[in-house]
Amino acid sequence: NDESRQYISDSIRTIPDFPKKGIMFHDVTSLLLDPKAFQLSIDDFAARYKDHKIDVVAGFEARGFIFGAPLALQLKCAFVPLRKPGKLPGETIGASYQLEYGEDRIEMHLGHVKEGQRVLLIDDLIATGGTLAAGIKLMNQVKAEIVECACVIELPDLNGKAKLGGLPLYVQVQKEGD
Ligand code: PRP
Ligand code: MG
Repeated sequence: NDESRQYISDSIRTIPDFPKKGIMFHDVTSLLLDPKAFQLSIDDFAARYKDHKIDVVAGFEARGFIFGAPLALQLKCAFVPLRKPGKLPGETIGASYQLEYGEDRIEMHLGHVKEGQRVLLIDDLIATGGTLAAGIKLMNQVKAEIVECACVIELPDLNGKAKLGGLPLYVQVQKEGD
C-alpha cells in the first residue's frame, strides 16, 4: 500500500555526486539497515507474485541478489544469479549491453533456467534499462517465459522501461534521476 511504499522510499538515502559529479545515488544500504523497510519490500514483492507460478527468480549481481534471494525463498522457487563475466564456474551463456562508455556483460549458468520456465527478473534499480534488457536477452536465448521485471526503485526520467520490449515492469518507488 501507499504507506509501505512511502516507508520504503524514505528508508533509501540519496548521496549527491556519486559515482560522479551531478549524479544522485539512491543507496539501498540504508534500506537494509532497517529490517522493517527490508521486510516491507520483500513482502510486497511476495504478495504480488505468490499466485504467478514463478519457477525462477533471476537476480542481477550484485544488488539484485539482496532482494531476489529472500524473495525466491518466500515464493519457494529457484534463485538464479545473473553474474558479471568470468564468475560462474560452469558452462555459461551471456548477453552484452551498452554503457555510457563501453560495454558490459552478464552471464548465467547454462541449464539453470529451462525452456518454458516462468521467470521473474529482479534488480534493486532500473536506470537506463540496459541491465534488465540484457537479462531479457538471456531468458529469450533459453526460451524461458518472463512473467515480469521487478525493481525496488525506478528512475522514470531515464525511460529505462522503453528498453524492456513491452514486458511489464513493477516498481515499488520512483525517484528522480540525474
Ligand atoms: C546498478 C543497479 C542496477 C543497474 C541499473 O548496478 O544496481 O543493476 O545499475 O542501471 P541500468 O538500468 O542503467 O542498467 P551496478 O552495475 O552499479 O552494480 P552493482 O549492482 O553490482 O552495485
Ligand atoms: Mg546492479
